[in-house]
Amino acid sequence: MAEVNKLDKIVLYLMPERIQKQRLRDIKAASRRRKFKIVDTFCAGVTHVVTECDSLEQVLKFLLLDDVDQLHGVQVLSMTWLTACLKNGRPVEIEESQRIRQKQLEGLETDTDTAGSIAAPNTWACQRITCLQHHNPKLTTALEVLEKHAQLRDGNSDYSRALAFRKASCVLKSLPHTLTDIHQLRGLKDIGNHSAQVIEDILEEGFSNEVEEILNDPWFIKMKLFSSVFGVGSAIALKWIERGWEKIEDAQNSNDITSDWRVQWGLAFHDDLTSPVLRQEADNLLEVIREEATKLLPGVIVEIVGGFRRGKMSGHDADFLLTHPDEGSEIGLLPQLLQRLQKRGFLLAGQAEKNSFTPGVLKKDFKLSMKGQLDHFEKWIGIMKLPKSFKDKHTDPSSIIMPTPGSDPIDGSLDYQPSRKKAKCGISGLSPWELSRTERAWCARRVDLIISPFSQYYYGLVGWTGSKHFNRDLRTYSQKVLNMKVTSHGLFDFTKNQSIPAHSEKEVFDILKLPYHEPWQRNC
Ligand code: UTP
Ligand code: MN
Repeated sequence: MAEVNKLDKIVLYLMPERIQKQRLRDIKAASRRRKFKIVDTFCAGVTHVVTECDSLEQVLKFLLLDDVDQLHGVQVLSMTWLTACLKNGRPVEIEESQRIRQKQLEGLETDTDTAGSIAAPNTWACQRITCLQHHNPKLTTALEVLEKHAQLRDGNSDYSRALAFRKASCVLKSLPHTLTDIHQLRGLKDIGNHSAQVIEDILEEGFSNEVEEILNDPWFIKMKLFSSVFGVGSAIALKWIERGWEKIEDAQNSNDITSDWRVQWGLAFHDDLTSPVLRQEADNLLEVIREEATKLLPGVIVEIVGGFRRGKMSGHDADFLLTHPDEGSEIGLLPQLLQRLQKRGFLLAGQAEKNSFTPGVLKKDFKLSMKGQLDHFEKWIGIMKLPKSFKDKHTDPSSIIMPTPGSDPIDGSLDYQPSRKKAKCGISGLSPWELSRTERAWCARRVDLIISPFSQYYYGLVGWTGSKHFNRDLRTYSQKVLNMKVTSHGLFDFTKNQSIPAHSEKEVFDILKLPYHEPWQRNC
């Protein structure tokens, strides 16, 4: 019998959601009679989660987890498995149909349309399907540690080393099976020697020394910590380390730190801003934004983009893309929308950027870099105050008005260039730090609002949906294979010397001669 099915190795957690209370009690009692170890809360050590939920997404939501990786090594099974065990009086083999899967994964292995989209020799990541949940999380997590390390070490000047690890990780994510032997990678491009060595170490030893050393390296730990502050990249993080700072508090306590409003607010609200934004919060905020934007501009389209559109249950921020089919009517929307959101107490701090698009942008030579994401849309990049109640339930958007003591406008929120002085917020003139220490029913969240003219919208939608690596790969592929330049603003065909419009996301893929992949299949 497989190790996972030995009675003394099993620690069961029965999810109460969707099960009638009496039935839950009966099943628990029957399980205990048959000597199954059952715990009443989901905790470390649980080996089997049994549920009536029909997707992993729901399970994550009820368990308050952010990522499928957090369930690594835990069997998530349907009630039919447990009832079969109870009938047999012992743990039975798990049937594939009893595993709770990610909704988005359904059909991945059986769908003949997608069979050609898995990792194959000479494919591009943008040609393959890459789901959030895949078969090789242990290997990809290790490779992404190396990617992060390279990124922090090399800064923005050279992304090539980091990119090599990301490419390898991406190939592993699209494999239809768990890798057990390095030779299974034969013939696949994008697995460099360094990545191959790390993969081999893990397959043979169960771990990679190099990765373990990085994870324990004080420099890496500090760089990761400091660069987790909003507005802090590897250059600033490095400076802080050179000053001998070890903890976030060292930066928070320093008087003479920075004039950058992002870093000031980022430090003051570091705890809030590094706790993951939940999908429910983003959904609730979407309703508020849609309600206000529609009052100003009926027919406005407001879409959640970024990781949430790709099916993630949590993210580091919430990104919203706005447009209107009547091109030009979106002009002036953003400042008015911000004013309304401010009146309702949602704004904490932020910066608006004007639209800087010119048709020349479409065909300008472009450098592919990590920073190659920057675009020319009008946008607001900032921090909002979301009621804590947004986390756990659907909230009627019109009922929410944030309790903002005092009625002063919040400085900095609408400014194009907030100055250091203005980093004080309007509430009784409190500084970001003082405000973060007040008793509050809200959480600070990073939010991006992006305004796209309709003629650029579908390219913008693809660009802002990401992932970042998907975009990067898409651009390189377009350039090298098709002699086209694709950005969030459009596509320029250098062979025909003209730009090509798109009227749907599918059309963007068609023009690029790519199989259409849903957002949740673009998680590379
Ligand atoms: P994010 O950095 O928010 O990434 O950018 P994400 O995938 O949503 O990750 P989490 O979940 O928040 O941690 C969202 C998308 O917008 C694109 C990025 O490439 C990414 O795909 N983007 C970002 C642009 O197109 N232009 C920008 O200026 C910034
Ligand atoms: Mn995001």
